[in-house]
Amino acid sequence: MLGTGGTIAGTTSDAGENLGYRAGEIGVAGLVSAVAPLARFALEAEQVAQIDSKDMSHAVWRELVLRCAHHLARPEVAGIVVTHGTDTLEETAWFLQRALAPLKPLVLTAAMRPANALQADGPQNLLDAVTVACTAGARGVLVVMAGAVHGAADVRKLHSYRIDAFGSGEAGPVAVIEEGRLRCFRAWPNDAALLPWAALEVDAAAWPRVEIVFSHAGVGPALVEALVAQGVRGLVVAATGNGSVHVQLDVALQAAQRAGVRVLRSTRCAFGAVVDNDPQAWPSAGALTPVKARIELMLELMRLA
Ligand code: SIN
Repeated sequence: MLGTGGTIAGTTSDAGENLGYRAGEIGVAGLVSAVAPLARFALEAEQVAQIDSKDMSHAVWRELVLRCAHHLARPEVAGIVVTHGTDTLEETAWFLQRALAPLKPLVLTAAMRPANALQADGPQNLLDAVTVACTAGARGVLVVMAGAVHGAADVRKLHSYRIDAFGSGEAGPVAVIEEGRLRCFRAWPNDAALLPWAALEVDAAAWPRVEIVFSHAGVGPALVEALVAQGVRGLVVAATGNGSVHVQLDVALQAAQRAGVRVLRSTRCAFGAVVDNDPQAWPSAGALTPVKARIELMLELMRLA
C-alpha cells in the first residue's frame, strides 16, 4: 500500500461540521491499522507523499511511478493499492496506466470525508481496494470508490461533495464490490504503455511542458502566444461540443504549431468523445478529458524525445 495523502488521510477538528479540515495528516500505516479486517491481508505500507492532491506535481508522479514499478516487479506482490486525494485521482490513474500498463491490479482509492468524520468513507474504500488488489486475474489501473471499480480511462470525479462522487460515464464501471465480492461487467483495463517507464526516471523538471487552453466565448490568442513564448511543448485544446475551436484560438494554435508546438483536441463536454471526421482538424484525444489528454500528449512527447 502506497500513501500519497488526500482526504482519506485527512482530519477535521470537528467531526460533525468538517471544520479545520487538513488533507493527508495520517500516514498510510495508520490508515491500515485503523481498519480491523485488513489484518487478514499481508500488507506493506510505504509513504510516497502526504499532500492534498490539488497540489499533485510531476515530481510526486515520478516518485510514485518508480515505486509502483519496483513493487509490481516483485513476484510475491499480487497487487498495489495507492491512497490518494479525490481531486486529481483520475489524472494519476491515467498517468500510471499509460506509464506502466500493469499486468497486476494497481488500485487507487480515496475518500470524500476525512478519516475522523462521522460518515468516514475511507475505511470501506480501503478494504474494497485491497480486495480488488488481491483478486486473481485483475489487472490494470483501477479506481475503487463507493463500492464501484472504475477503469483509469473512463473514471472521472463528477461531484464536488457527494460520497458517491465518481463515475465512468457511458462506459460504466468495470465492476462493483458487494459484501467483499466482485461482480464484473466488463474487461479489466489494458490500455498500452506509451513509453518505457524508465524514461520517467529523468528529473520531473525536464518533462515536457503541456498546457490546457479552453475554447470559450470571447477567447483570444493571448494565452497561447504567451505559452509559446515561454517554450510550451504541447497544447491540449478543451474544445466545444464535438471538438470545434473558436476561430481566434484556432489561428493562435496554427501559429503555435508552426513554432513546433504539438496540439491535441479534446472536448469540454461532460460526456462523449471528439468524433474525428475531418482530416484537416487537430488530432483528436477521443473520449479522454482535457486533463487526461494533457498526460497523453506529455508522455507522447517524452516517447518521441
Ligand atoms: C485531495 O484531493 O487531496 C483533497 C480532497 C479529497 O481527497 O477529497
